[in-house]
Amino acid sequence: MSEQETSVDGGGVATADSAEGSLSVTDNRTGQSYEIEITDGTVKAMDFRQIKVSEDDFGLMTYDPAFTNTASCRSAITYIDGEKGILQHRGIPIEQLCEQSSFLEVAFLLIYGELPTQPQLERWLHDVTHHTFVHENVKQFVEGFRYDAHPMGMLLAGVGALSTFYPHAKEIDDHEERYMAAIRLLAKIPTLAAFSYRHNRGLPYVYPDNDLSFSENFLSMMFKMTEVKYDPDPRLAKALDVLFILHADHEQNCSTNAVRSVGSSRVDPYSAVAAGVAALYGPLHGGANEAVLRMLRRIESTDNIPDFLEGVKNREERLMGFGHRVYKNYDPRARIIKKHVDEVLEATEHNPLIEIATELEKRALDDEFFTSRKLYPNVDFYSGLIYEALAIPTEMFTCIFAIPRTAGWVAQWLELVDDPEQKIARPRQIYTGDRDADYVPISKREGPEKITNEFLRRPIRSRRGA
Ligand code: ACO
Repeated sequence: MSEQETSVDGGGVATADSAEGSLSVTDNRTGQSYEIEITDGTVKAMDFRQIKVSEDDFGLMTYDPAFTNTASCRSAITYIDGEKGILQHRGIPIEQLCEQSSFLEVAFLLIYGELPTQPQLERWLHDVTHHTFVHENVKQFVEGFRYDAHPMGMLLAGVGALSTFYPHAKEIDDHEERYMAAIRLLAKIPTLAAFSYRHNRGLPYVYPDNDLSFSENFLSMMFKMTEVKYDPDPRLAKALDVLFILHADHEQNCSTNAVRSVGSSRVDPYSAVAAGVAALYGPLHGGANEAVLRMLRRIESTDNIPDFLEGVKNREERLMGFGHRVYKNYDPRARIIKKHVDEVLEATEHNPLIEIATELEKRALDDEFFTSRKLYPNVDFYSGLIYEALAIPTEMFTCIFAIPRTAGWVAQWLELVDDPEQKIARPRQIYTGDRDADYVPISKREGPEKITNEFLRRPIRSRRGA
């Protein structure tokens, strides 16, 4: 981005000239006018608090459920222009990183703000590689989960539990502790994810192999069986490394916001990152790639695609892996990953779901319903296909997303804890409930005499929605 430009909330770019100035606001309730400063194309929500109808009025608030038009921080990590389909980390386009870099180098870039020198990179790789083992107690509590526990639930618990193994991590102003937490999170989350998978499959856990690269080691921990040494297909290891780069950070998405929000209480980084894992689990976020595969299985055959798409248009279904809050153009990550799909398919066995996905994508991109709403495939549409081709079970997809996103979460957490403008995150609300209601004794409350199953199954609604 040139110096003349100023980024505005991942949605576009305003020139420096138009990004500064002031806003004249007249409150028609009082006739009073106010000058609100515009900086970086934004107005400060707190500047509206001075707008009051009387001295004891709380002052005007802004209302923005889901933060669709609110910048929650200043960040120098990731730049997105959703309209143009641009994604850059520390200013470097994602296309260059995918072609020339490796995931661990990108993790360094995100965390330190610049590409490492050769000695820095060597030390970084050494430190991550030598912290991949987890305490043997971790293995025991993973064993304690039910045989069919979802790996993402186990990963969530495992990451939270890491804080109990490294209690000094709560000294978040200590730079050495921060470094160790960053290294341990990057190094141990793949191990926890792989252990969760092996547990879910009833397979013995595989310890990390320091001779392998980051992505090769992960494949080894997932798939090694009786062989003395796991020998991954380089095409698959490369595709996985590219997927890791593509998922490393994505500015203020749902899980990053969760990490920042929880981290703002100044809790240790393991607990803050566990919040990110929880947010990522949801089907509208990291769970989308899992949902894509479930959707493809449900469609079953290319003959059923027209009916399925009719269901989407009638709002009975959602086309998972399509659409994005920020990209209202092609997701640049989807474009890069699409190239690797063919390579992975070449190296793996035929899978009929791939045909359904290809046909579904073609038809949706030809359909006015999707094009008029700027709904294009997002990264999850293709990442799911690659994982499927790698024979990674569907329940593991989101865990694999969590591995690289840890780099982004750590970078964003570090930026948060050093940001003097940040405080504990604490939104306001518009209260819509009763006020000053009297407590009713139980004998005087109205309701059915008998609780039937039908009563229990009625929709649970807040009184506001009732
Ligand atoms: N299928 C069908 N219709 C959709 C889809 C979809 N996948 N996505 C959006 N729409 C429709 C909406 O219903 C809306 O239609 P309307 O204007 O007629 O009411 C219109 O497109 C605009 O959508 P928005 O509501 O503005 O989209 P929003 O930004 O709120 O949601 C989201 C983005 C959550 C990603 C959504 O597109 C979606 O649910 N996609 C499927 C889930 C998915 O793939 N998530 C992965 C996101 S990427 C990631 O997390 C890494």
